[in-house]
Amino acid sequence: MSFAAVDVIRAKRDKGVLSDAQIDWVVDAYTKGVVADEQMSALAMAILLNGMTAGEIARWTAAMIASGERLDLSGVGRPTVDKHSTGGVGDKITLPLTPLVAACGAAVPQLSGRGLGHTGGTLDKLEAVAGFGTKLSNEAFVEQLRTVGAAICAAGEGLAPADRKLYALRDVTGTVEAIPLIASSIMSKKIAEGTGALVLDVKFGSGAFMRQVADARELARTMVELGKAHGVTTVALLTDMEVPLGRTVGHSLEVEESLEVLAGGGPQDVVTLTLALAREMLDAVGLGDVDPQAAIADGRAMDSWRALVRAQGGDPDAPLPVAGEVETITATRDGFVATMDAYAVGVAAWRLGAGRARKEDPVSASAGIILHRKPGEAVRTGDVIMELRAEDAGKLPAALDVARGAVTLSDTPPPSRPLILDRIS
Ligand code: URA
Repeated sequence: MSFAAVDVIRAKRDKGVLSDAQIDWVVDAYTKGVVADEQMSALAMAILLNGMTAGEIARWTAAMIASGERLDLSGVGRPTVDKHSTGGVGDKITLPLTPLVAACGAAVPQLSGRGLGHTGGTLDKLEAVAGFGTKLSNEAFVEQLRTVGAAICAAGEGLAPADRKLYALRDVTGTVEAIPLIASSIMSKKIAEGTGALVLDVKFGSGAFMRQVADARELARTMVELGKAHGVTTVALLTDMEVPLGRTVGHSLEVEESLEVLAGGGPQDVVTLTLALAREMLDAVGLGDVDPQAAIADGRAMDSWRALVRAQGGDPDAPLPVAGEVETITATRDGFVATMDAYAVGVAAWRLGAGRARKEDPVSASAGIILHRKPGEAVRTGDVIMELRAEDAGKLPAALDVARGAVTLSDTPPPSRPLILDRIS
C-alpha cells in the first residue's frame, strides 16, 4: 500500500493516530529514499510535539526492525542478555559488566556506540586499549559469543538501517528528545541484535538525556513494553546521573577504573551499579543463583575481560595512554563538596579532547578528568578536587572554566542521593 507523505505528516500534525499501513509505508519509503529528508523531519517534529500511542510506537519499532536484518543468536549455546544505558558522564559500566556477566555463564552481545556531545561512548573507551578492534562481521560476532561469551562492537550496516538514517536526521532537526522516537530507536537495534533478554539503565539528572525523573520513567516504561511485545525479557533500572559516575571521566582513565572494579576494588558507586545490573541480567536469563561478586573475587571476571580484549585484537597488558598536560581545581575553603554537576564535568572532558563535535571527529584517548573529591566528602583549603588532563595544553583553560563552575562547597555534608531510584519490569 502506498501513501502521499504529506498526508501522513498532516495526520500527525493534526494529532491523529497513524495506521499500521501508514507507519510501515513511511518507515520503508524513508529508508529507500522515496520519502525525502524534509518530509521525515516534519513528521519527526509532529511526533515530538503530539506524541504517539503505545500501538503506534510498537508498530514504528517493528517497521524499523524490518528495515534490516535480525541476528540469530540461537547457535551461541548460552542464554543471551544485553545491557543498554541511555548514557551519562563517567558511565563506563559496560566495560566491567560485560566480561563479568560472561564469567557467570551468560553470553553478552554488546552492540555499542560512540560518544557525541558531553557523554562518552563505549567504543571510544575500548579503543584506548592498544589494538582493540570495534568492527566485527556478524559471523565473527556470533562466533565470539560462542567461544568467549562476550563481544563489544559497533552495530553492522545491516541492522535497523531506518534508525541510522532517522537518528542522523533527528540530530540536526531538534527532534532527538521525542520519547517515542528514542524508545523505538534504542529498542529496534537491541531487538534486531537478537538478544534474548535486556536490562536497561535509564538515567536521569543533569548529565543524562532525560533531566527529569518523570521523563526517564516514561522512557523506561515504553522500552520495557516494547521489549516484552517482541519476546525479549526486559527490565529497567532508573539511576541517578546528577553527579558523574565513579572518579574518572575520559577514555583511558575509565578503562583503568574498570580494571580496578574487575580486580575487586574501584569506586563504590561503579561497583554497586555494576553488581546491580549484573544481578538483573543473570536473573533475566535464569541464572539468578550465580553470585557475580564471587566471579570478581576469584578472578574469573578479569580472565573474561582479558579473553574479550584478546579476541578483538587488543593487548590487555599494554600500558594505557596518559596525557601529559595537567591542571587542578582546588578547594577555596574548608567544608564539604556539596554538588558536582555531571553535565558541566562532561563538557569539561569534552573540551579537553575526550569528546567530539561531529561524528567523524577523532577523540583523545588520554584526555579526561580525575575526581579526587565527590559530593559528601570533606575538603580542606587547597585540597585537589579535580585533576584535568589533556594532550594539548591549549585545551586546558576552556575546560578549567567550565569545570570550576561544576562544583559547589558547603559547611555541612549534603543529603545523600540514592543511586538506583526504581526498577521497572
Ligand atoms: N540512543 C539511541 O540509540 N537512539 C536515540 O534516539 C537516543 C539515544
